[in-house]
Amino acid sequence: MRLLRPAGGAIGFCHSLGGFRLPGSSRTGTADRDEYLCLTSVGLPVRGNPIFFLAPLAASRCAMKDKVRVPDLVRMKAEGRKIVALTAYDYPFARIFDDAGVDLLLVGDSLGMVVQGHPTTLPVTLEQMIYHVQIVTRAVRRALVVGDMPFLSYQVSPEQAVHSAGRMIKEGGAEAVKLEGGVTVAQTVRRLVEAEIPVMGHVGLTPQAVHRMGGFKVQGRSERFGARSRQQLLDDALALEDAGAFALVLEGVPASLAAEITSKVYIPTIGIGAGAQCDGQVLVMHDMVGLCEESPPRFAKRYARLWDEISRAAKEYVSDVRLGRFPGPEHAYSD
Ligand code: KIV
Repeated sequence: MRLLRPAGGAIGFCHSLGGFRLPGSSRTGTADRDEYLCLTSVGLPVRGNPIFFLAPLAASRCAMKDKVRVPDLVRMKAEGRKIVALTAYDYPFARIFDDAGVDLLLVGDSLGMVVQGHPTTLPVTLEQMIYHVQIVTRAVRRALVVGDMPFLSYQVSPEQAVHSAGRMIKEGGAEAVKLEGGVTVAQTVRRLVEAEIPVMGHVGLTPQAVHRMGGFKVQGRSERFGARSRQQLLDDALALEDAGAFALVLEGVPASLAAEITSKVYIPTIGIGAGAQCDGQVLVMHDMVGLCEESPPRFAKRYARLWDEISRAAKEYVSDVRLGRFPGPEHAYSD
């Protein structure tokens, strides 16, 4: 299928509109072949901002029939369907999770901790994020791929944020970006959205604020110095929605607060350590598959024990080689 530029130049709105669609119309565009198909006219339930959708156009990843796009997540909330998200950082896991039906793959800056072995996410660079986003987008057919903005790639100014996020989209192939913060980053989120970069917010326990919080601590339940209060987190969520974010990660907040935020915003909330009332759930993949030396945090469920299994395999290999049990004749080439 050939890509055609519709009158009105909607090509630049690919991710925020969820494919190549003509804005403000539920009818097909004019093309020399019948390449714009009318699908439906669904309003994006963001205050005062109805958008009408046409069927997607592009080849490759963008053309897959059940490809998850930014507006689909908003629709899933409206329809009461849970959003399933996981982090991914490399090709094999991204392929496995995508095939399993995960809706959203987040290339999280948590890679600083679970892949690079740092104690915080702070050392992760934009270049490293782009590298991992490229790998994940290469693997994914269906899931929406969101690239996390690392520390100091967006805090300096809205212009810096547009430049960094633009690179995630342009060089990495991400379909959206995520950044941490609430009221204080709302202006930046607005600027990114104006630049047609879909943004996922992240409030509550925001790991890039580890030093302000004094550790990775649950937020919204005390007025302790350094912590965000319940009211501040509510204000954060509303400010991000108002700025045009299409979804919110709620991390490390009491379940009752997550439920309250979820009921007050039109956009979906995706919880991690935020209880069952969120519109979706996300886990760091290493916690989910048990690929950590220590037990995962209380809020995470371990669905496999890969650390133990891989450790067992490695020890067996070590002893097989030392004892001459590997390689066997079946592993050798004949003349
Ligand atoms: O970096 C990350 O993986 C995240 C998730 C924990 C939401 O931000």
